[in-house]
Amino acid sequence: MEHNHNKVIDEGRQGEALELDNANISGKKLYVESYGCQMNFSDSEVVASIMTNNGYSTTRNIDEADVVLINTCSIRENAEQRVRNRLTEFKHRKDQKPDLVVGILGCMAERLKKSLLEEEKLVDLVAGPDAYRDLPNLVDEVGTGQKAVNVLLSRDETYADISPVRLDHGGISAFVTIMRGCDNMCSFCVVPFTRGRERSRDPHTIVEECKDLLSKGYREVTLLGQNVDSYRWNLTSKGVVKDENQPTTNFAQLMEMVALVSPDLRIRFSTSHPKDMTDDVLEIMAKYENICPYIHLPVQSGHSTVLERMNRGYSREWYLERIDAIRRFMPDCAISTDIITGFCGETDDEHDATVSLMQQVKFDFAYMFKYSERPKTLAERRFADDVPEEVKAKRLTEIIELQLKNSKLSNEKQVGETVKVLVEGASKRSEDQLCGRNGQNAMVIFPRENYEKGQYVLVKITSCTSATLLGEAISIC
Ligand code: SAH
Ligand code: SF4
Ligand code: F3S
Repeated sequence: MEHNHNKVIDEGRQGEALELDNANISGKKLYVESYGCQMNFSDSEVVASIMTNNGYSTTRNIDEADVVLINTCSIRENAEQRVRNRLTEFKHRKDQKPDLVVGILGCMAERLKKSLLEEEKLVDLVAGPDAYRDLPNLVDEVGTGQKAVNVLLSRDETYADISPVRLDHGGISAFVTIMRGCDNMCSFCVVPFTRGRERSRDPHTIVEECKDLLSKGYREVTLLGQNVDSYRWNLTSKGVVKDENQPTTNFAQLMEMVALVSPDLRIRFSTSHPKDMTDDVLEIMAKYENICPYIHLPVQSGHSTVLERMNRGYSREWYLERIDAIRRFMPDCAISTDIITGFCGETDDEHDATVSLMQQVKFDFAYMFKYSERPKTLAERRFADDVPEEVKAKRLTEIIELQLKNSKLSNEKQVGETVKVLVEGASKRSEDQLCGRNGQNAMVIFPRENYEKGQYVLVKITSCTSATLLGEAISIC
């Protein structure tokens, strides 16, 4: 789910602060910093919305904050370590300013619960992913000297009625959460423990949010969920209709509803699960020009026995068949993946199977990680974390090198082609260059001329690196 495509290994986006200039009723200022996946960044916008409705204004300057919230990730040990370092810095800050309220949100809050407050004494407030409506009360409780903890997980909270406060003024691309939680039990993964049961959001609130974004100048939405293919409204997990008098909606139908909002609104989604990604989704993708031909389909391993230990619910053959299906429906569809090296008991042969799968599929992009054991997961209880660190690292280096070649190949294929780019703004290096992505999610850079942010521009690709396509604009489209 992480989305910085310029880095091969992505440990989540790093501590970005957010700011809004709303009416400042209480005079109190909130500073929020987010780590982890897109869901967390999207949740921080919900948090900002809840807090600004309760009289706070937000700031990007931590020095002027009365409340500091850190939205955290537990996916790998090093993600948590980074947060701990940051919390220690906040603690020093609190020594200087004793009234400062420091709170932890997100997955680490849910995983470690009140121990962060009682044993480690790192924070004043702990709120899990389903407890954000309670934040204004929790902050008040801190003010009266109480322990402020809410880590209750919910079966139905989707924050459907809260319109997230968008934190990038004049933004082009927005996240829209369509479901929360995860009911899969991949044996390596902490998410089911930190995010609770899977639940889907009312489709009409999703469509309304997309319409609203379009009217505010946004031109792209990314529909978010841990497993978007199991999105379902008015249906049980067994596919039984809940209320006969109401329509049902699955993921393919939801995508169609969003695609029909406007041809000018481009649609992406993340993450698809290989065991649940059905042909009806591919059919809808192929049917609508504004649904981007790009699928993030995490494979994790290329060996069926490892996939079984991971409890992923599919085999190598099943995965490869899904790749064939994608290419049948959309020959130009880009495909990216996630891979874990050194999972419990992974042999050289099993690792080689991952390498051969990568050679066969030639992913356009991949996020690659060393296995990091997480407390309470099935893998932690059942298997030994027995692949030595050096072996994990060596295997990781090998697949990263292979992926760099594949990414380069994927970009080279587009040199000479003309692609449609949604302009996101100036490129990082120069104000004279614009950047944006094509439908396949490749970053494209081209001279600004008179083109502007938010326009769809046809760009002729003239050269590339493994991370970027370079070209020249032809016209608006
Ligand atoms: N819901 C998404 C994944 C969310 S986590 C999905 O099912 O694909 C993002 C990625 O982190 C996973 O795809 C996996 O590759 C990686 N990951 C999860 N747990 C991990 C662990 N314990 N160690 C290393 N990588 C892990
Ligand atoms: Fe974790 Fe698996 Fe759920 Fe993804 S599908 S969040 S990897 S348990
Ligand atoms: Fe996301 Fe990290 Fe939680 S990847 S769901 S923030 S554990």
